[in-house]
Formats: sequence, structure tokens, C-alpha cells
Amino acid sequence: MDSIWKRIVKKDASSDLTNRIKKAKESGIPHHVAIIMDGNGRWAKKRSLPRIAGHHEGMKVVKKITKFASKLGVSSLTLYAFSTENWKRPKSEVEFLMKLPEEFLGTFLPELIEENVRVEMIGEKETLPAHTKRAIDRAMEETKGNTGLVLNFALNYGSRAEILKAVQHVLEDVESGILPKELTEEIFSKYLMTSTMPDPDLLIRTSGEIRLSNFMLWQSAYSELWFTDVLWPDFKEEHFLEALEVYQKRVRRYGGV
Ligand code: IPE
Ligand code: IPE
Ligand code: MG
Repeated sequence: MDSIWKRIVKKDASSDLTNRIKKAKESGIPHHVAIIMDGNGRWAKKRSLPRIAGHHEGMKVVKKITKFASKLGVSSLTLYAFSTENWKRPKSEVEFLMKLPEEFLGTFLPELIEENVRVEMIGEKETLPAHTKRAIDRAMEETKGNTGLVLNFALNYGSRAEILKAVQHVLEDVESGILPKELTEEIFSKYLMTSTMPDPDLLIRTSGEIRLSNFMLWQSAYSELWFTDVLWPDFKEEHFLEALEVYQKRVRRYGGV
């Protein structure tokens, strides 16, 4: 049983959070939030656990933050889950990471459907293991009619590969008669894997690393960036809210005055 003092403090903290959520909603929620979820390995190391324990804990945070983003009214949430460079990791770690989508969707898909969330993916799907691809395809299929939050996994995603593929595609279209000078930034964006999404308004990276690691290089040209030392498995609703509050104070000039 909590002491009276503890209960008062807890109640104050939760009503403070409720007030902050209310205020954030009134101040304009970013349409598209993208997160580079980093620090799972270091979280595990701090606890003398294997790296995969950090990934497993990180998956629980994905659930929590998805629900929170949906509640706040974010339209799209892109989560960087596996980069084209992450294949360099030990085979056992890669295998574990490739099983996570099945586990995540296996337990969470009914809730996602109930929350009206639509699951999407960017990245090279064809080279994923068949079981991973199946889990993603199933989730995309079962949620395709949903009209709430778009939960977009960047899986086997690399921005340079994405841009290169877009260029190859454009060149093919030039061969079939489109004039090079007709290509605009707007049209080029339609060749990218994010063709149906707005650019991220807010880009978050956890774990203290201040870099993009090949994530959304084209799309983040005017994103607001927010970095935190918090490791992804320790990331909580309060941190997401903090990022939103910082974002809401920023002045986005897009090169103007
Ligand atoms: C992020 O955590 C998850 C993936 C890249 C798949 P890391 O595994 O990169 O964790 P650190 O950076 O080693 O702590
Ligand atoms: C970026 O994290 C990729 C994901 C979060 C999926 P990394 O841990 O792979 O990035 P680096 O190696 O520190 O740049
Ligand atoms: Mg990392």
C-alpha cells in the first residue's frame, strides 16, 4: 500500500501529464513523427544481458509509443527498425531481429486493428526472410482499410538505396519518353518509398547518437530534429511528449524569414 504522500505525488504527476497532453493537443500535433530507435544493445549491456534482451524490451516500447501517438492524433509514425547496414551484425542477432515483427504483430495486431491503425512498411521487402515478409504482409493486408494512425516500419531500409532505386526508375521512364527537364522535386518524391506520406515534421533519435545513419535523407530536409540520451528501451510517453513540446516551440522557416 502506498503512503498518503506517495499517492499524492503520483496523482499530481499523472494529472500533470494529463494537462501536458491536453496542452500539446491544443498547440498542434506534428503530422508525421519519425523515430530512430537506438540504444537497445547498450541498455542490455548495462544490465549484463545479451543484446537481444534489449531488442525485446524495445519492442514493448514500440507498442507503448504507438498507442500514445495514436491517442495524441499523430497521423504517421515511422519507426526505424532495421537498416540496410544492420545485416553486418552477428547472424544470431540479425535472426532475432527478423523474428521480432512476427512476435510484435502476433501479439499486438488485434489491438492495432481495434485502434484503427494502418501498418505500412518502407525498405526492401523482397530480401527479408520469408517469415518476416509474411508477418508484415499480413498486418498490412488486415489493416489496409484502417483510417487512423499510419504505423510505418522502416525495415531493411536505407535512404541511399531508396534514392538510387528512385533514380533508376526515373531513368527507365526517361527511356520511355519522359523528358529529364520535366522532373521536379515533387515528382521525384513520388518515386521514393514514402510516396504516399508527408515528410516527417519531427525526427527523434534516442541513445545520444547525433546522426541520421542513412535514414530519410531526402525527406528530412526540413524536419525538426530532437535528440535524447535516453536509450530506446527506457523511452516513455513523457519523453515523446517532451519532444512534441520542444517541437511546438520551434519556428519553422523553410529558408524564409
Ligand atoms: C537499435 O539499437 C536497434 C537496431 C539498430 C536494430 P542498437 O542495437 O543499435 O543498440 P546500440 O546502439 O548497440 O546500443
Ligand atoms: C540506426 O541505428 C538503425 C536503426 C535504429 C534501425 P544503428 O545503431 O544501426 O546506427 P549506427 O551504426 O550507430 O550509426
Ligand atoms: Mg545503435
